[in-house]
Amino acid sequence: MPIATLAAPAKINLHLEILGRRDDGFHALETVFQTLELADQIGLELIPGASGIRLDCRDPSIPNGPDNLVWKAAAGYLARRPGLGQVAITLDKLLPHGAGLGGGSSDAAAVLRGLTALDPEPLPGAELATLALELGSDVPFFLLGGTAHATGRGEELTALTNLPRQPLTVFMPGAILPTPAVFRALTPAERAPRQARGAAWFAQQPIENWLHNRLEAPARRLCPEVDRLLEWLEKQSVPHLMTGSGAACIALAHLDPPPQVRAWWTWTGGPVSPVTIRR
Ligand code: C5P
Repeated sequence: MPIATLAAPAKINLHLEILGRRDDGFHALETVFQTLELADQIGLELIPGASGIRLDCRDPSIPNGPDNLVWKAAAGYLARRPGLGQVAITLDKLLPHGAGLGGGSSDAAAVLRGLTALDPEPLPGAELATLALELGSDVPFFLLGGTAHATGRGEELTALTNLPRQPLTVFMPGAILPTPAVFRALTPAERAPRQARGAAWFAQQPIENWLHNRLEAPARRLCPEVDRLLEWLEKQSVPHLMTGSGAACIALAHLDPPPQVRAWWTWTGGPVSPVTIRR
């Protein structure tokens, strides 16, 4: 049976602005995404003649069933391609959850990319993008990877020139932050309507001018660990910011972490790597 193996990279947000509240309850965003070399690893097998989904997640803290976004991605794909076969997934987690690194979203996008590569009649790109957005606001970006500007919920994507290979440290404080809680904690002033800068602005500005995250203030109010970590980073005099809705923060340099903070040295990565298929 063909087996696809692929990396599901982490992302950071090098800019995240709130442009207001939408009628559907989501927030309109302007963000710049960047994939990292830090990644989960996914294996996918398509078993013709069988049905259903099997998931082997080698991290006991992550659900192994229908609650896992990876499962939902496979189920969404199979609903559009009934009779394709059974999907067996192995998931080796490295990326922490509740971090703002997009681990779950990236795993889900990797399953979609893998199934597209294994499927003799793959779903068209537009249908895949719709399914990706149904799974989560960050999932469409992970079909692309690299450096990208986004508006909407994060699905109106414009690829930017890939950043040169850049050293980074990802810091994970001893706390996690649930995304809905951080959005809920925005004050009316923080979520007031604003104009987008537009992709062209980012293309013209040096990366140091991109660094801004409107979700930092609510995350700091909710989570003392994030507040302390950002205070420490301010003292290190290196470019830094919180990623997504936190709790991870990043510095654009290789730095040793403060006590009680896990850290990974990594690099910015280009577009998502191709799917490897073993027959
Ligand atoms: O789309 P995703 O599942 O990542 O969103 C998780 C939660 O984050 C949403 O239910 C919502 O509370 C909040 N969110 C938002 N606006 C966005 C993205 C996420 O309010 N653009």
